[in-house]
Amino acid sequence: MQVLILKDAETVARQAADHVTALLQRKPEAVLALPTGNTPLKMYSELARRQLDWRRATTFNLDEYVGLPPEHPGSYHTYMRENFLRHVNLPEESCRLPDGQAPDLQAACQAYEDEIHAHGGLDLAILGIGLDGHLAFNEPPSSIYCRTRVVRLATSTREANAAHFPNHELPPERAITMGIGTLLQARCILLLATGANKAAILQKAVEGPLAALVPATALQLHPQPVILADEAAAQHLELKDYYREAYRP
Ligand code: PGA
Repeated sequence: MQVLILKDAETVARQAADHVTALLQRKPEAVLALPTGNTPLKMYSELARRQLDWRRATTFNLDEYVGLPPEHPGSYHTYMRENFLRHVNLPEESCRLPDGQAPDLQAACQAYEDEIHAHGGLDLAILGIGLDGHLAFNEPPSSIYCRTRVVRLATSTREANAAHFPNHELPPERAITMGIGTLLQARCILLLATGANKAAILQKAVEGPLAALVPATALQLHPQPVILADEAAAQHLELKDYYREAYRP
């Protein structure tokens, strides 16, 4: 596990964008798993600024709420349109999200897995971390082998995400999320963590014992995850000095 402790959230965003830039240059038809939430917003701005060539790439979002129409202001379809798709030359049909409105949700989950597989698997999965340790919407406890499926969201997650809904109404109770097993098959994983409110959970995820109660500890099972953390999020890491020395940017 490579843990990079960076000055601030802007530096985290730039380094994340550096990984994406390098990948698209090396492999224009790359397949990426993309996150939503507050953390990656600066990365999306940076990617928009760089004007990379996305024409041959495919992106799969980590998750989407069940039951929200794509045009709902709180949906991740809307988030991706506003923060990413509008600003880059990725064809709309190459920006995939789970279909939270599918009449048969199980079938939609399987179809999403099949599509990722048909594209040759994920080259890079970019992730945030939830305050409860969730990765994508894999809430505690989550099996390390779980695949794309329908999950019930934790109340704390819904409350945290209400900020993105009109009048701060609570988001839906259920979502479709890629599974931990799906994410661990990505050839590269980047976890972005910024802000002091992520410090305690980041320490558990990186240095704590592997536990279904902290789904992000599953990253420890990936061959080479890269953690990009700003100083505030890294403040409780016990091996901070070692990371600074070993992984000097
Ligand atoms: P945040 O969400 O970036 O809005 O903090 C992260 C997550 O829930 O995975």
